[in-house]
Amino acid sequence: MSKDPAGKAYEAPALIEQDIDAYLEAHQHKSLLRFITCGSVDDGKSTLIGRLLYDSKLIFEDQLASLEADSKRMGTQGQELDFALLVDGLAAEREQGITIDVAYRFFTTERRKFIVADTPGHEQYTRNMITGASTADLAVILVDARQGVLTQTRRHSFLVQLIGIRNIVLAVNKMDLVDYSQQRFDEIVADYRDFAGSLGMESFLPIPISGLKGDNITSLSEQTPWYSGPSLLAHLETVELDTERMARHNFRMAVQWVNRPKLDFRGFAGLVSSGSIRPGDAIRVQPSGRITTVKSIVTYDGELAEAVAGQAVTLSLSSEIDCARGDVITIADAPVEVADQFEATLVWMDEQEMLPGRPYWLKIGASMVSASITRPKYEVDINTMGHQAANTLALNAIGVCNISLDRAVPFESYADNPDLGGFILIDRMNNRTVAAGMIHFALRRSQNIHWQSLEISREAHAAQKNQQPRLLWFTGLSGSGKSTIANLVEKKLHVLGKHSFLLDGDNIRHGLNRDLGFTDADRVENIRRVGEVARLMTDAGLIVLSAFISPFRSERRLVRQMLPPGEFIEIHVDAPLELAESRDVKGLYKKARAGQLKNFTGIDSPYEVPENPEIHIDTTSCTAAEAAEEIVAFLLG
Ligand code: ADX
Repeated sequence: MSKDPAGKAYEAPALIEQDIDAYLEAHQHKSLLRFITCGSVDDGKSTLIGRLLYDSKLIFEDQLASLEADSKRMGTQGQELDFALLVDGLAAEREQGITIDVAYRFFTTERRKFIVADTPGHEQYTRNMITGASTADLAVILVDARQGVLTQTRRHSFLVQLIGIRNIVLAVNKMDLVDYSQQRFDEIVADYRDFAGSLGMESFLPIPISGLKGDNITSLSEQTPWYSGPSLLAHLETVELDTERMARHNFRMAVQWVNRPKLDFRGFAGLVSSGSIRPGDAIRVQPSGRITTVKSIVTYDGELAEAVAGQAVTLSLSSEIDCARGDVITIADAPVEVADQFEATLVWMDEQEMLPGRPYWLKIGASMVSASITRPKYEVDINTMGHQAANTLALNAIGVCNISLDRAVPFESYADNPDLGGFILIDRMNNRTVAAGMIHFALRRSQNIHWQSLEISREAHAAQKNQQPRLLWFTGLSGSGKSTIANLVEKKLHVLGKHSFLLDGDNIRHGLNRDLGFTDADRVENIRRVGEVARLMTDAGLIVLSAFISPFRSERRLVRQMLPPGEFIEIHVDAPLELAESRDVKGLYKKARAGQLKNFTGIDSPYEVPENPEIHIDTTSCTAAEAAEEIVAFLLG
């Protein structure tokens, strides 16, 4: 049956019986291929994986035992594990895990070790698929020969391409059900080729298979004499790994930590993400741009004459230069770029939608920086590949955005180097990973716009006014009394000869922010802009008062961080909802209760109570005049 000369390799390994040490040694040095299988629900993923595991025989024993137990639990007790049971076990296991994660399976042949990520196919599991694909060298896209290329096939291909997997196998499955028709196979391949071209996919390998019958899986099938390519397993065993490909690029290593075991040794540890390096080579440390040479390459197993992509090493350098965690060491004459604004693709993974303007943590390489999304450009409809205008991204949505960081980081485009161009965004309040991102390029703006240093400093402005700039930030529910108290405070300051200015929510929303409404995203942007304006006014030496609901802790903190320590004074004007609602000066609560006004704070939009305000005004126990007194006393005291 087997025509494949490589087919011999998967038969019972003789070495294991003759010389166990030699076997283990060979096993340890085998390369590892990670791959992902994707396709629609009925395309036969479990059958294919079952076939690979079953035929390669070297499936790890504990895994076999667990699958056997699974298939027995399914009511087939007392039988030996056979192919059908193995497949049932796989399917059952994946279904149990379907909502949580990706199932990883291990198997090995004489030539290579394999980890296959088996991911659920439904649209709502984009996140799982991205997780499974993020470390894969190769993707097997399964198509049912009877169905041809479906929406799911396109969607998965798009995601796989987005993640940057370059080795794509189009496995046209269930060939036995179309009588091994070459014509049908060619049709599907031509169809897929059109689509792959539109995605910018460079190449893919089409293989006609039957997972059930085993055709062209581990050996070439006599049923498809017209097929001249390799069997699936022969391809998996020989395809180039990402680390092999990356080894040919320029040297790059992100510094994970700085090692200082002895006084006279300082080592920079990290994973070589591309290229190779030898002692004596000239290197550059980014972002500082400093140049020196490599003194030695240290590992747990001793010093190396060379380090290549995929190895974890510690470099010691010939001179003492500044180099910290998150810096990137590159070959001296081909450094990576450094920038603080990018265009990137984002895959949104959180229940709470993206909020442009809100600060998130961005983790790239070994750096963690504060970042905000400045402009969502469009969302990609992953079923049609069409672009739609977008102001935000919801769970599982994929879009292209501009992102701004609070400091410049070394990077490469994701397409060139996933290690230095891929990042995640983290919610600063609850530490959840909310998105995965891929950098396209730096916005040239960040290189061309510099900060102009001003001759008259903010200290000079303040000194001329004979006062300390401050931002009195009033926050509280609509109708709590923010504007009333802020007005009284400003009058008192005026009488005292202080230079001040009051920014009021209702007024600013008539001008600067008249394009904003009351969705979460708009409120975030409202406060970000007000924060920037208030900061400029404090630069001019003013005492600024602001009266905005500012319902989110995150944005209040953002504004606090825009100012020098001590200048931001958070004042919580605390009125219970019932009290604010009973006053209802503008009649808005009534409208909100009647359902005529959506997203009203306290009714159907949240207010996050300040945790540590500098001043807390309890409006149930003091008058507005008393509150104003207290605030002025705080300011002058
Ligand atoms: S914030 O939430 O973005 O800080 P801001 O203080 O600018 O709000 O505006 C609040 C004012 O807008 C309220 O005092 C009220 O007069 C008016 N308003 C209109 N619609 C709403 C709404 N849905 N929620 C809250 N306030 C609203």
